Amino acid sequence: MLDPNELESRLPVGRMGVEVHLHATIGSTNDRAAELAREGAPEGALVLADEQTAGRGRLGRKWRMPRGSGIAMSLIMRPSQMERSALGAIGLVGALATIDALEGLKLEPRLKWPNDVLLGGKKVAGVLAEASWTGSTLDYVVLGIGVNVRPVPLGGGAALDYASTSVEDSVGETVDRGSLVFSIVAGVDDWYQRLEAGEAHPAWEERLAFKSEWVSISNEEREITGRPIGLTPSGGLRIETADGEKLTLEAGSFQLRPINTDPTQPN
Ligand code: BTN
Repeated sequence: MLDPNELESRLPVGRMGVEVHLHATIGSTNDRAAELAREGAPEGALVLADEQTAGRGRLGRKWRMPRGSGIAMSLIMRPSQMERSALGAIGLVGALATIDALEGLKLEPRLKWPNDVLLGGKKVAGVLAEASWTGSTLDYVVLGIGVNVRPVPLGGGAALDYASTSVEDSVGETVDRGSLVFSIVAGVDDWYQRLEAGEAHPAWEERLAFKSEWVSISNEEREITGRPIGLTPSGGLRIETADGEKLTLEAGSFQLRPINTDPTQPN
């Protein structure tokens, strides 16, 4: 079990973790955080669970988290102003906070756009940022982060969209989940500040995986082959297609996969 006393003694960090709601078992920490946000919980309120039974991933996928196997956490954010298209940037705040926390364990995580975290080319963490609007007014954002910490059997922790791994698979020894939660919360506080100050963008681009490699980016309507060349300040992906066209894709419904063929060469 995560230790509530340890968490309370180390949090908040800046604006994050001002309230801690720790559950032994929950359906989805994002759903609980949204409920709390609607009831008026402040920015920085944190929901955590040791087991998540109905966790949700991007694009309607499930995110299973067996008891004690990982981190399922959601933070309430109340940005003073946000364009609808900037939700991708909040997702990146979560991904970069997770990347920093894993670098603190001497690992070399990478960012798979829009906001998956990879270790050794496999997915170790995912982010689900969800916003609620009343007309053009933002009510709140919930930033949900899921990390596979312990090795899990096939089909375990992650949304089944990509080969998955765990932090302990890479570290080779037991990792303290409480310390990892603390590092991620501290990272969210830091990246959120950098985002507000307009300073986050260069570091995101630096961490982007598959830069200049051929990838396929698809949603239900289209599939595009291209090479990532960078990110927009709101978290969109800039790519160059095989015929040299430069496109920007907003995170929304897209998913990215590396491909091993070069579309500019004959088969
Ligand atoms: C993805 O990779 O598709 C995103 C996965 C996000 C999972 C986290 S776990 C904590 C929070 N609560 C949820 O129901 N989902 C997110």
